[in-house]
Amino acid sequence: MELHQLKDLLTEKLQATSLIHATISAPRLKSNDLRRIKVKPILLRDTYAIQLEFQHERIIKHENLSIEEFIVRMDQFFDEFRQFLFRFETEEVQFQLSKKMKVSIKTTVKEPIQAELSHNRKKSHLLEDGVPVPFLIRLGVMTEEGQVKRQKYDKFKQINRFLEFVEDSIAVLPKGRTLRILDFGCGKSYLTFALYHYLKIVKGFDLNVTGLDLKKEVIEECAAIAADLGYDDLSFRVGDVHDYDQDTEVDLMVTLHACDVATDVALARAVDWNASVILSVPCCQKELNRQLDCSPLDVMLQHGLIQEKFASLATDSIRAELLTLVGYETQLLEFIDLENTPKNILIRAYKNPKRPTEEKIDRYIAFRELLHAKPYLERELSGRLGQISSKLVQ
Ligand SMILES: C[S@@+](CC[C@H](N)C(=O)[O-])C[C@H]1O[C@@H](n2cnc3c(N)ncnc32)[C@H](O)[C@@H]1O
Repeated sequence: MELHQLKDLLTEKLQATSLIHATISAPRLKSNDLRRIKVKPILLRDTYAIQLEFQHERIIKHENLSIEEFIVRMDQFFDEFRQFLFRFETEEVQFQLSKKMKVSIKTTVKEPIQAELSHNRKKSHLLEDGVPVPFLIRLGVMTEEGQVKRQKYDKFKQINRFLEFVEDSIAVLPKGRTLRILDFGCGKSYLTFALYHYLKIVKGFDLNVTGLDLKKEVIEECAAIAADLGYDDLSFRVGDVHDYDQDTEVDLMVTLHACDVATDVALARAVDWNASVILSVPCCQKELNRQLDCSPLDVMLQHGLIQEKFASLATDSIRAELLTLVGYETQLLEFIDLENTPKNILIRAYKNPKRPTEEKIDRYIAFRELLHAKPYLERELSGRLGQISSKLVQ
């Protein structure tokens, strides 16, 4: 069978939504740290999609694609991997690709089964509605019986979503010592409590968590709740993220909607303190909106609404790129459904020191110059960036 015929066969079966699961393995290059890709169909907000689980040597990442996008990506997987196993409803298709892309294929008829499409029930419900959790009761998200209050359901979903990211990051966190975790701009500290509950109480990690916020009364209230719950290794401080100097090493830095450049300060401190993991959901960032000057984009930027959204997306792209340049594997991921909040991008950065290529540095500079941007984060990271390339000193 020729490769194009194989692709037609897979396309037909994928389009018939008969996939149960698939595994793509045996990378062609030994240096490829992506060892395996697990594939399964899921329902994403009632739409059929294909979920890829990328199993790297140290970490696992997920990506959801439409059938069409997955079919296009298959070409890349054919180039990079040799072994493929697809389980469809009534048959299993196993094939290998040689160096010269010759196909050896084996098809086996199987007992019919149906795909389990519910989206990852276990993962999206790390905290269950109906199961009492002390901090959620104390913060007024749940009743004493463990029922999530209707008006707090979005908050509950947000906490659960965030914990999914925490769970995915565990593999990257250091082992065998106390973990240091900071939440900058913690506010009422739903996430700070959730982190503590999940990592300490459910998973049993030894850790030390601090939430920092400007608001004295809110912080006092959080400290009182922590004391009531007996959360001895969770502390709260009143303070400005700009002045915070209580740590020199941090393992996990978290921010959720830390206003404006408070997010940038948190990202920069996380880099300074060698955080292994950064999970940051930015809030508004007005700086670039004021600086934007790019006439080729005037068709878009003439509209205030579009300019604001563009500035916000460009800011997060710049943040992600800067983190990559200073040695983080960075992804921008959907945090929660758009209908809940427009602030739904999560920056996930895993420390992975790698010197950026000149091409990457130039690509970043070209983007920044195109927009006439003078990013706050770039200034905050100027020491590190200057060590990487003199071109990165503004
Ligand atoms: C939108 S609230 C988010 C609170 C919390 N992270 C959450 O999502 O529920 C932003 C918080 O950041 C805090 N904040 C803003 N700028 C700050 C700064 N420079 N230093 C410390 N906290 C700051 C505010 O006081 C506020 O509580």
